[in-house]
Amino acid sequence: MEYKLKETTSKDAFNYGYLLKRLYPYIKPVMGRALINLLIAIPLGLLDGVMALALKPYMDYVVNGSPEQTWTFLGFTVHIQTFLASIIPFGIVAFAVFQGVLKYASNYLTDWTGNKISNSLKVDLFKKLTGLDPQFYDVNSSGLVLQRFLTDPETASKTIIESLKSFIATVFGLVGLVAVLLYTSWKLAIIGVTVMAIAITPVVFIRKKIKKVSNATMVVGGNMTTNFNETFAGNKIITAYNLQEMQNKKFEGQIHEQFDLAMSLSKRVGWMSPIMYSVCSVGIALVMAYGNHLILTGQLSAGSFASFVTSLLLLYKPTKNLGNTLTSLQTTFVAMGRTFELFDLVPQITSPEKPYAMHSLEKSIEFKNVCFEYEKDKPVLKNLNLSVNRNETIALVGNSGGGKSTVVNLLPRFYDVTSGSIEFDGIDIRKFDLKSLRDNISFVFQDNFLFSGTIRDNIMMGNEDATQEELDRAIEMAHLDEFIDALEKGLDTIVGERGTTLSGGQRQRVAIARAILKNAPIVILDEATSALDNKSEAIVQKALDNLIQNRTVFVIAHRLSTIKNADRIAVINDGELAELGTHDQLMMLPDGIYRKLYEMQFQSNQEKALV
Ligand SMILES: Nc1ncnc2c1ncn2[C@@H]1O[C@H](COP(=O)(O)OP(=O)(O)OP(=O)(O)O)[C@@H](O)[C@H]1O
Ligand SMILES: [Mg+2]
Repeated sequence: MEYKLKETTSKDAFNYGYLLKRLYPYIKPVMGRALINLLIAIPLGLLDGVMALALKPYMDYVVNGSPEQTWTFLGFTVHIQTFLASIIPFGIVAFAVFQGVLKYASNYLTDWTGNKISNSLKVDLFKKLTGLDPQFYDVNSSGLVLQRFLTDPETASKTIIESLKSFIATVFGLVGLVAVLLYTSWKLAIIGVTVMAIAITPVVFIRKKIKKVSNATMVVGGNMTTNFNETFAGNKIITAYNLQEMQNKKFEGQIHEQFDLAMSLSKRVGWMSPIMYSVCSVGIALVMAYGNHLILTGQLSAGSFASFVTSLLLLYKPTKNLGNTLTSLQTTFVAMGRTFELFDLVPQITSPEKPYAMHSLEKSIEFKNVCFEYEKDKPVLKNLNLSVNRNETIALVGNSGGGKSTVVNLLPRFYDVTSGSIEFDGIDIRKFDLKSLRDNISFVFQDNFLFSGTIRDNIMMGNEDATQEELDRAIEMAHLDEFIDALEKGLDTIVGERGTTLSGGQRQRVAIARAILKNAPIVILDEATSALDNKSEAIVQKALDNLIQNRTVFVIAHRLSTIKNADRIAVINDGELAELGTHDQLMMLPDGIYRKLYEMQFQSNQEKALV
């Protein structure tokens, strides 16, 4: 299964039946209102025809008629001319009010159903997004993902109702008007309808172009969003390296690209309307010429002709609408194709069908012949064997890019081993329920991410059900109490997005408090102290000492003080376990990697002391 979102294809964009079938579960709950809405579209469409039809009696009886003509209805006799002349102004108002009410109902229902469909689609897509494993986030840019998860479902669901509605209204508008045409003169009708049919054919030819431009527009939109995100996340680097100009240029480039795309579509689609207009006018001219002949030869009444020409003129609008609606329906289907592509992404890291529940760690963690690669044929871990006992602290050291973070990322199954296995108490971790596995692991990262919200919220993420006492204890153990006490709002202080309003060390201690509160038997510390100065490191180190008591701990650190205290040290170099043992054992190895590392740091510490 390929995780990378394809940028420029949406394979099912022309597969209308398939797409509608997939959208159906989302339409189903709002089916009642959607149907009413579509039903309302019928009279809305037909009203134009009624208007044209009303012209016939008006012309024939009022304009061209005589006062003597009468109708007898239920015993009453009325003079047609007077009756129609007095009733028609009221008729016009009633007609407008009726049309207005229908339009209001229709718009309301369109918004209601459109938003409902779009929302349930988005909720499901968001679930999909949070359920995907880290690899998905590695290979796709944030902008593209945002664009596809937010914009496409919106386009797909909101416009589908709108388009269907106007499609139905238009079709019935056409049917009504054509009926009036046929009623007034079938000979003229044939001419008129043939011309209209010719006028809308170009729509068929532009759908491929629409698909291409729509996809390309989505990609540019995605790049723009990525640009925005990077401007936020990287603003300090942008400022420090004076990259504003570069960033602005990038954005301007994207805006231009978007403009070009919009214009290329406009160029291809924009000629449709004038062409249709010209073709229609040819039709009208033909009808006029032939109609004049029919009137002069007494085959057609003036009223019929007036109705006819009005219908024909009114017919232009729905014909043009049909063109637009078909164009926007095509855009909708392209977006739908892309949306359902997202639904087809299958998370690769899942619980097995009959999972074991992991309760705690009793004996050991074993890496057995573990090989791992992020990208095919680029091995990162090579046949790694390592056994860690319960409540042991193991330090991972080694060259940068050697695979230390990768080793610990495999434990909560951020990624799965390519071959070999990792076992907790003799059970392959892939056999555990994923949630219970992750519940048993506390992870403190080097660059800890805090969520926008309060410090309390962020710590409580470790354990939503923690009591105030437990929370206070975790804060104390994380050496956060002094810092929090000094804050005006204490625990309820809001931290900025990503926790930017806290210092690096404070963020790390919040993360440690979160991990302490989680109280998991396995603790992973990936460079949890590397970015700190000596004093903060001493504080954070104390917090860590509290966190790792009576737990099985993997600690990745550069500082030898942290490493020396570990029970054992594993040297991971270029994806292989190069050395394993206690500090003293590894120091005995002549030419040992660890020994060299230690001596180098020891030396530089001494040099520092001399300065
Ligand atoms: N998400 C990823 N996708 C592809 N390759 C990756 C990914 N993460 C890491 N790598 C590659 O895997 C290798 C091991 O990386 P890893 O982060 O495990 O190293 P490390 O030992 O933790 O290094 P450091 O001490 O610098 O943190 C590196 O070559 C790195 O480029
Ligand atoms: Mg690392």
